[in-house]
Amino acid sequence: MSLPPALRALVRDELAEVEAYAPHEGSFEVRLDANEAPDLLSRDARARLASAAVEHGMARYPDARARALKDALARRAGARPDELLVGVGSDEVIALLLSALDRPRKKGQPPAIVTCTPTFVMYRVSAKVRGYVVVEVPLDAAWRPSLPSLLHAVEMVDPNLVFVASPNNPTGTTMARDDVLALARAAKGALVVIDEAYAPFAGASLGDLFGAAPNLAFLGTLSKIGLAALRVGWLRAHPELIAELDKVRQPYNVPAVTQRMATVALTELSAELDAVVRVVREERARLSLELERMGHAVTPSAANFLWVKPARPATEVFAALAERGVLVRAFPQRGGRVAAQLRITVGTPGENDRLLAAMARCGG
Ligand SMILES: Cc1ncc(COP(=O)(O)O)c(C=O)c1O
Repeated sequence: MSLPPALRALVRDELAEVEAYAPHEGSFEVRLDANEAPDLLSRDARARLASAAVEHGMARYPDARARALKDALARRAGARPDELLVGVGSDEVIALLLSALDRPRKKGQPPAIVTCTPTFVMYRVSAKVRGYVVVEVPLDAAWRPSLPSLLHAVEMVDPNLVFVASPNNPTGTTMARDDVLALARAAKGALVVIDEAYAPFAGASLGDLFGAAPNLAFLGTLSKIGLAALRVGWLRAHPELIAELDKVRQPYNVPAVTQRMATVALTELSAELDAVVRVVREERARLSLELERMGHAVTPSAANFLWVKPARPATEVFAALAERGVLVRAFPQRGGRVAAQLRITVGTPGENDRLLAAMARCGG
């Protein structure tokens, strides 16, 4: 049934260029496609989280200011609570930023973002559906953000926001500290957002650059370290900017169950979360070595996934793995050098063995 014209006329033109997010359908024994952490929490930790979930009771709204969760995140991030905004995943925080900072540019031009390509798609999608112009700067030959190209784009576009993921999804590459600073200093009229979703796997964070420039902000999430089901993401930015963004946030955005469970995870179970990260880093090194031994090209990764150019065409390897019950991520629709790559999330040791065995058998 087609949409009546009067309703069609209400829908933003930009939505024609965007597709709703659709995870890969089908049942796979080994899912290494979504950059989640392997589910390694102990029975005791699960039991503690289950009891935390009911502590708040069901009849009352959550704490609108998420104070306990902010305190716990602030301690983990070495931040002050008033520098933090918490959202339902960093996806929500990205949407909030784009909603609040969408002033038209000079001469009534629509608002704009500058970001990299390939990178996390939600910067582009979330910006597009709000009427932003999206300028995507290709990564360099080593799949790293290119400072000269970013500076050039910033100068040409005069964007409202710049988004750089470091480590970057899907490539696992990072941006150099000096480049982050140079970008923030050059893009004075923009908020420069460094997305550190995967920083726990990098061994080093850029977060200590916070405060080096007032327009430098950082995104973080609990999704990649074993708590994706909770949907907790945050922004660290200038406290007065946080106060403005708080006006755009829905008052009860983060559910009470999530606030309670995440607070307990951060305060009582941090050793277990750190252990998950350690296992992933060890497994990343093993997977990387084995895949290279098989003749595949693996980009050095600072994240919880590998960016792999298989020896055979990526679509064939993807299909052969899927037939053997292993789902990874392919990018056939992207064309160019990206279409030749696969992104493989690091799983449990057992899942990684399954992947390696399937790779060996399909002659990938
Ligand atoms: C770079 C990056 N940022 C943010 C996210 C989303 O995180 P969240 O689950 O907190 O919305 C992802 C998810 O894949 C990501 O790759």
